[in-house]
Amino acid sequence: MAQARIGLIGLGVMGANLALNIAENGFPVAVYNRTGSVTDDYIASAGDLAKNLVPTKTLEQLVASLTKPRAIIIMVQAGGPVDSVIEGLTPLLDKGDMIIDAGNANFHDTRRRDAALSTSGLNFIGMGVSGGEEGARHGPSIMAGGDKSSFEVIRDILEAISAKHEGAPCADHFGPDGAGHFVKTVHNGIEYADMQMIAEVYGLLRDGEGRSAADIGKLFETWDQGQLKSYLVEISGKVLQTIDEKSGQPIVDIIVDKAGQKGTGRWTAIEALSLGQSPSTIEAAVAARSWSAVKDTRIAGQDLFAGLEMDTATAPAISDDDLEKALLAAKIIAYDQGLNLLSAASDEYNWDLDLASCAEVWREGCIIRSTMLDEMASAVREGLPHGNLIFAPRFAQRIIDGASALRRVVASASLQGLPVPAFAAALAYFDTMRQGRGTTDLVQGQRDFFGAHGFVRVDTGETDQHGPWASDIAHS
Ligand code: 6PG
Repeated sequence: MAQARIGLIGLGVMGANLALNIAENGFPVAVYNRTGSVTDDYIASAGDLAKNLVPTKTLEQLVASLTKPRAIIIMVQAGGPVDSVIEGLTPLLDKGDMIIDAGNANFHDTRRRDAALSTSGLNFIGMGVSGGEEGARHGPSIMAGGDKSSFEVIRDILEAISAKHEGAPCADHFGPDGAGHFVKTVHNGIEYADMQMIAEVYGLLRDGEGRSAADIGKLFETWDQGQLKSYLVEISGKVLQTIDEKSGQPIVDIIVDKAGQKGTGRWTAIEALSLGQSPSTIEAAVAARSWSAVKDTRIAGQDLFAGLEMDTATAPAISDDDLEKALLAAKIIAYDQGLNLLSAASDEYNWDLDLASCAEVWREGCIIRSTMLDEMASAVREGLPHGNLIFAPRFAQRIIDGASALRRVVASASLQGLPVPAFAAALAYFDTMRQGRGTTDLVQGQRDFFGAHGFVRVDTGETDQHGPWASDIAHS
């Protein structure tokens, strides 16, 4: 009774669209949803594609409808629901079958599930899928990790349904256990930084220059024809130019400025810190969302500090061109930090991640897709000097071209009292990375002073050196 190459559990927005995409690409797909009526309605509305959809009403039916080795995609809410589905499926499957978690899982959960399933001879694939509803239906970017041989069994399906960049599928396998979900997490971290920086430009133009939403939207539309061409700049232009049907106002003006976050951006920052990394642009973007949540506090602060004088007169004038260059430079810095994080995680978990492939699967289909990613992928393939994208000649040049604009934007924002946490974080990182002698010599001195933690001498290279410090000297 096996009729389908692949099964899919969870007919929510993402699952429903992914199954239609699979069916449209000619692969029979068995679908299951906990509430059976959802499956009936889904099949009824699938039109011609219903011929490639096999509706099932129990997990047993789903399993029986699949050719071997069985491959079952789970597209349910991340966390506990994924574990419940795996628990229900495990006794029904045979050795060599595979379970594919296509949700936004925390990669630690993926590692745990991978280890647990392998003891029962089952294979697990943790697969990040980006691109929202539209992507799921017509071509997402797919970041898989886990059992490589299982991935090869379904590679044809994943490549067929994925977005394409000049014919190359934006779907790949990145390494064992949690590698795919980690790549997706960092994708989301970069997504947060990119979105925040665009929002900071909007803030500077709205609050600094009093420009209308439509006007700013048009500017983004123009930028989307140039080096900043990207999905996020494009949709920002559209969001800003949309008029609310109810009020007749720009829709952005009637949206409460409190950002939601399901958690992937925060996970990126948490994992980065635990790996000794600090992707400041991503951290700043997460912070900005968290700060946005306390709107009542912000309103109280606005009243309390209303009388504060700003140095607006001394703020450097910033042109649209400055903002475009600053955004470009800061964006490159965010990618530099994201790639560094991927590299650190790869070392820690022995994933042997191919960073160029990461950039390649992000070229189309996903939320951070942009024309610049193709060049980034090439730069990574050519080899990044000191592992840093900002040192790669073609990107170093853009940073050089944009650095003074970024500096003026941060300075101007600061003097006007307008928050630009992600831009400021990008600039601080850049200035640190171009400073051969920093200031942590003093930090090391402080650490040795109060805790005898030791330091390395510049002149002899000797390690574990200690004072004596001035107070020791004074008291001796
Ligand atoms: C994607 C997106 C997606 C993300 C949502 C909401 O790649 O398609 O990153 O996975 O979950 O857009 O994310 P936040 O609620 O964290 O903003």
